[in-house]
Amino acid sequence: MLNFGRTRSQSRTNRSMSLGGMEYPDPKRKNNFVGKILLAATLTALCIIMLKQSPSFNTTSSFSIHEAGVTHVLVTGGAGFIGSHAALRLLRDQYRVTIVVGLFWMKAASSFLLNLMIKIFFLRQDNLSRGNIGAIKVLQELFPEPGRLQFIYADLGDPKSVNKIFSENAFDAVMHFAAVAYVGESTLDPLKYYHNITSNTLGVLEAMASHGVKTLIYSSTCATYGEPEKMPITEETLQLPINPYGKAKKMAEDIILDFHKNSDMAVMILRYFNVIGSDPEGRLGEAPRPELREHGRISGACFDAARGITPGLKVRGTDYKTTDGTCIRDYIDVTDLVDAHVKALEHAQPRKVGIYNVGTGKGSSVKEFVEACKKATGVDIKVDFLPRRPGDYAEVFSDPSKILRELNWSAQHTNLQESLQVAWRWQKAHRDGYGTSPLVMSS
Ligand SMILES: NC(=O)c1ccc[n+]([C@@H]2O[C@H](COP(=O)([O-])OP(=O)(O)OC[C@H]3O[C@@H](n4cnc5c(N)ncnc54)[C@H](O)[C@@H]3O)[C@@H](O)[C@H]2O)c1
Repeated sequence: MLNFGRTRSQSRTNRSMSLGGMEYPDPKRKNNFVGKILLAATLTALCIIMLKQSPSFNTTSSFSIHEAGVTHVLVTGGAGFIGSHAALRLLRDQYRVTIVVGLFWMKAASSFLLNLMIKIFFLRQDNLSRGNIGAIKVLQELFPEPGRLQFIYADLGDPKSVNKIFSENAFDAVMHFAAVAYVGESTLDPLKYYHNITSNTLGVLEAMASHGVKTLIYSSTCATYGEPEKMPITEETLQLPINPYGKAKKMAEDIILDFHKNSDMAVMILRYFNVIGSDPEGRLGEAPRPELREHGRISGACFDAARGITPGLKVRGTDYKTTDGTCIRDYIDVTDLVDAHVKALEHAQPRKVGIYNVGTGKGSSVKEFVEACKKATGVDIKVDFLPRRPGDYAEVFSDPSKILRELNWSAQHTNLQESLQVAWRWQKAHRDGYGTSPLVMSS
């Protein structure tokens, strides 16, 4: 494999020297320049050779034509936690899958050569977006056959890129997972959330409309309900979101529903509750970027404490009107969640819209969650009980009867400890997320 690190440090030591604002020519500079050109040419040639051998390189054409009996699904956010699990399930079920991988920092990434370089470089270096190229690599290794899986680097906030993706590919359906998805972060940087969630969903919808893609499965959230007084939450419960994340998702839902009134698109909106777990076979997991930990979800916080990355767990609020005083949430296993997506896709009908809660219908308290996590990890996690955090609501759990009735879906993995045990196995074997080679898995 290529050693990018060494190449970079070499060029640094050979730079011309700057002393007191003056440039002193380096005698080795000319040689360096020729060397760099040669290196770039070699790297390019290597990129082309490697990518020509890669299945996704040779199969562009099968992604650009509709094929009888094959459903081609665009999975946005497919390098993220839920999207990667959904892509795995779709591939297992013989769907053709295109994953969009977000690289926000690089609109120039559409350049062909750059894309080639990125493909090789990031397969080794992991992500610069919120998703994980490591997850894509796992999927590619599992499904190397031509015409099964391709991935495209693009920022969904860039309309030109989005339009290009849709004009070059023949999608039958879109599962739109891509989003920034942390309540805490959304209160600190609301504009990012309205842009990334609401505006990007509008862009995806416009592209679907202009390219005749007829089925949308949309990732929404129970955060769109806000703090309803009455539990459980049904799909009829009034949506009164209380943070920018929930508001941005609700606005995206509204845009989809307004558009749908005059369209023959099949739309399914899934409002997930709190997602936990990971692939039971240990191929994929949840690996948020370290800087997002502080905004993170409870399972990540428990695992970080169990691994000693953080000194312990902070539970905020012990005086809620719940059985043990801590907040109650509805935890849905990602395996069940992706199953709901496949059922939604199977049941999607033109001109119809389906809105479904995806939860277990049962709430668990934070104390219960922590106890389950202690048992799952085998670590006696230190827990500090602190005062309430503003904006947290006492109790949230779903009524999932509509999705059972209409899609014949119900949660199967409802034992918290078991779901956490599965996730913990992956966490233990991937101490740096997808950044390192997996260690041997053990239970
Ligand atoms: N995890 C949960 O508990 C939960 C609960 C309810 C709803 N959801 C929703 O599920 C979806 C997936 O969540 P997740 O937990 O897998 O998040 P994640 O952060 O693991 O994955 C999100 C993915 O979207 C990509 N993305 C974001 N903006 C993009 C852009 N502009 N262009 C291209 N790609 C972009 C990220 O890079 C990442 O790969 C989100 O829409 C989220 O709102 C998640």
